[in-house]
Amino acid sequence: MNKKTVKDIDVRGKRVLVRVDFNVPLDADRKITDDRRIVAALPTINYLIDNGARVILMSHLGRPKTDDSGKADAESVARFNLDPVVEALRELLGKPVVKLDDCIGDAALQAAKNLKDGDVMLLENLRFRAGEKKNDPDFAKQLAGLGELYVNDAFGTAHNNDASTTGITSYLTSVAGFLMEKEIDYLGKAMENPERPFLAILGGVKVSGKIGVIDNLLDKVDQLIVGGAMAYTFLNAQGHSVGNSMVDGPGVELALAAFKKAEEKGVELLLPVDTVEVELDADFDIPKGIPQDVAIANAPATAMLDGYRGVDIGPESIKLFAEKIKAAKTVIWNGPMGVFEDSRFAKGTLGVAEAMAQCEGVTIVGGGDSAAAVELLGFASKIDHVSTGGGASLKFFEGKELPGVVCLQDK
Ligand code: 3PG
Repeated sequence: MNKKTVKDIDVRGKRVLVRVDFNVPLDADRKITDDRRIVAALPTINYLIDNGARVILMSHLGRPKTDDSGKADAESVARFNLDPVVEALRELLGKPVVKLDDCIGDAALQAAKNLKDGDVMLLENLRFRAGEKKNDPDFAKQLAGLGELYVNDAFGTAHNNDASTTGITSYLTSVAGFLMEKEIDYLGKAMENPERPFLAILGGVKVSGKIGVIDNLLDKVDQLIVGGAMAYTFLNAQGHSVGNSMVDGPGVELALAAFKKAEEKGVELLLPVDTVEVELDADFDIPKGIPQDVAIANAPATAMLDGYRGVDIGPESIKLFAEKIKAAKTVIWNGPMGVFEDSRFAKGTLGVAEAMAQCEGVTIVGGGDSAAAVELLGFASKIDHVSTGGGASLKFFEGKELPGVVCLQDK
């Protein structure tokens, strides 16, 4: 990475504001269900503690609503405060962490000034103030006023142009943390200088949301696997009936353009050859849960069943994709192959995760659902890099610069 990191600045005795991405999933009781993002920020936090910095951490959590006063409403405060995060952090760091009730204001300023070398403090959810998402210069300046140096370790949020990711860099010396450095190095090397064959696997639902990614990947990869719900749009574009499966209308044209580009570029574009399907109406809301007594069938992908919806790739597709994955020297993966949250329809995602774990090349999983899947299925430790950024890694795969990285100091 060509950006300065915490190692390039003298942090001793300084108040260092660190943007982290502690946007972790919580269950109904506000218990953290996956603390990977907190754990991933520990190397930077511990380095700062060990080097005598006064650490001020800041993060968003969820998407709280703000009212006309520019502050979060009471319901959002109850739902999205960082109390569960600070508890986890105290345990992981094994030391006290001061937690504030706001992210700016007199109390925050006073608390920041009271910090001693090696102390750690966590501001309240940045999105409790409207200025964060608006990248309001006044809000950015107030945040900056709490510290003397700025570190961005929030790769997961680096695609956002927010006050705490870009605006703040106008006021303070700004460098990257170790997680940011690691993410950029892994993803950057894969995209710019991959060992070949270079294989990308895309899943998820909407083709139209990923067209920039598909387009850029077709310039870089040797093989592209399209699985997950997106595959039904590609199959439909080829003229196959997909039963009641979801087809992304505008995506059909985009899929046709992708077939053409793949041919021009000599990229092998692979779709599932068989599918697992359930008898469900086209408008059934799958995320709410597929009924236990639903009829399940396997069918060739070119002859999907009337009245059924595809929910996973079939055994022949798993075999085919696994062979390609194991033979590749670089593999990047974003988006599950099916409804993996339901164990009946997790085999495709499991098969891809298992093949990635066995692949001897460099293996990278983009954040979001596919990262959750490898974690849930127990393969995370066998993947070279599981990114902490969903939207951010997709932007990266799209070949776009991340605003939160661009504005850090060059080496
Ligand atoms: C994420 O979970 O992708 C990041 O934390 C960014 O959150 P956002 O999508 O709400 O901006």
